[in-house]
Amino acid sequence: MHRVGLGHDTHRLGPGDGLVIGGITIPHDRRAIGHSDADVLLHAITDALLGAAALGDIGELFPDTDPANRGRDSATMLRAAADRVAAAGWRIVNLDCVIFAQRPKILPHRPAIRRRIAEVLGIVEEAVWLKAKTGESVGPIGEELAIGAECVVLIER
Ligand code: CDP
Ligand code: ZN
Repeated sequence: MHRVGLGHDTHRLGPGDGLVIGGITIPHDRRAIGHSDADVLLHAITDALLGAAALGDIGELFPDTDPANRGRDSATMLRAAADRVAAAGWRIVNLDCVIFAQRPKILPHRPAIRRRIAEVLGIVEEAVWLKAKTGESVGPIGEELAIGAECVVLIER
C-alpha cells in the first residue's frame, strides 16, 4: 500500500547573516524569521510526511505557543515526525521538493541539502530531490520579503 503527502511552508525574511534551509546554513544577507530556526524546507517535509501517514501536522506536534519550541532545531522535529511515521509501519519511498526564493542561488547547495535530509530521515540520497524557483522579482517571494517551500513524499507499507 502507498500513500502520498504534501507539505507547504512560508517564512518571512529579514536582515541577517545566513539562511537556515534544508538543515544547513547558507551564506546570505537575509535570514528567515520564525519561532523555531525557521527552516522552511524541513517544515514542508515534516508536514508532507505527517500528512502521508495521517498523523497530524507540525503545528500540532510542536506548537509555536510552547516556549520549548523557541529556536528549536527543525531537524529534531523532522526526525520526530519520521519516527512516528516509521512506528506506524510506513517506509519512505522518495520525496521531491521545491524552494521558492528570489535569492540566494540554491542549486550550488543542493548536494549538501540532499545529503543532510537523507541523513536526518535515514534514507538514501537518491530518494531526495530538490529544485528552486525565483519569484521572477514580483510578489513577496520575488521582493525577498518571504521564502517558501513545498514537498511531496511517497510512503509505503
Ligand atoms: O527559468 P524559470 O523562470 O523557470 O525559473 P527561475 O525561477 O528563473 O529559476 C531558474 C533556475 O535557477 C532554476 O531552475 C534553478 O535551477 C535556479 N535557482 C536557484 O538555484 N536558486 C533559486 N533561489 C532560484 C532558482
Ligand atoms: Zn516553518
